Amino acid sequence: MYKSIIEAPFIKGYARMAQEGYLKGWHERNGGNLTYRIKKEEIEEVTAFLDLSKEFVPIGATVKNLRNEYFLVSGSGKYFSNIQCATEENVAIIEIDDSGENYRIVWGLVNGGKPTSELPAHLMNHSVKKEAINGEHRVIYHAHPVNSIAITFVFPLESKVISHLLWEMMTECPIIFPQGVGVVPWMVPGGEKIAIASSELMKKYDAIIWAHHGVFCSGTDFDLTFGLMDTIEKAAEILVKVQSMGGIKQTISNDGFRELGKAFNVTINPDYLD
Ligand code: 13P
Ligand code: ZN
Repeated sequence: MYKSIIEAPFIKGYARMAQEGYLKGWHERNGGNLTYRIKKEEIEEVTAFLDLSKEFVPIGATVKNLRNEYFLVSGSGKYFSNIQCATEENVAIIEIDDSGENYRIVWGLVNGGKPTSELPAHLMNHSVKKEAINGEHRVIYHAHPVNSIAITFVFPLESKVISHLLWEMMTECPIIFPQGVGVVPWMVPGGEKIAIASSELMKKYDAIIWAHHGVFCSGTDFDLTFGLMDTIEKAAEILVKVQSMGGIKQTISNDGFRELGKAFNVTINPDYLD
């Protein structure tokens, strides 16, 4: 039993990841949001700290397969820079009701507030991932990394084009995101429309770039999800530098990518290798 809920390893890991993202420069002001689908045994360890008296309110999306699940979520308008030092003021644990249409806050946001405005996108992405890969993915992470946003002003907003360019920038990229990255055209954030567009792409990809806005990543744990964001952003940074030096003059061939896939026993999306 913990003296304080913030001693729970899943909350510590979450706060550490938020701080790492902030230090990377991916979370200006309240930019970005992070949600974690809490394991049964983890929520059981903190039940003494939960307040089950609040009313359920609509999510703005239906996520039937997430009914009765608990999530650790960042607060809307809250700053990532404050999550590690003032966790209970800036994040919340929410519970999804039996219909999968409503949620309530059961812990956190002690000075008021509500979950991230991107809650529909996060929960719909969690829903798709839970269905698709047997509940292995637990983390959905949205950030505003500079270079990944910058490239969406210059290159065609096509998954195949952007994925191939990012793969070319660092040899290990196609091993880390072999399916490529999805691309969502510019849309108003925070609503059901962008949530639906994102979750459609999350059926295929673990990372999606929102044009002129940011990146969404999905993963099994905090390290892998953060690592995916970091890898995509680093590849995008190299792309910006290469473009600034006059553009690609030589690169890795598609045959090279195929050999790489064989050597690492990874299927690199064949539709993107022609
Ligand atoms: P929130 O503060 O509501 O999480 O919004 C930040 C953001 O990045 C929206 O896309
Ligand atoms: Zn955003």
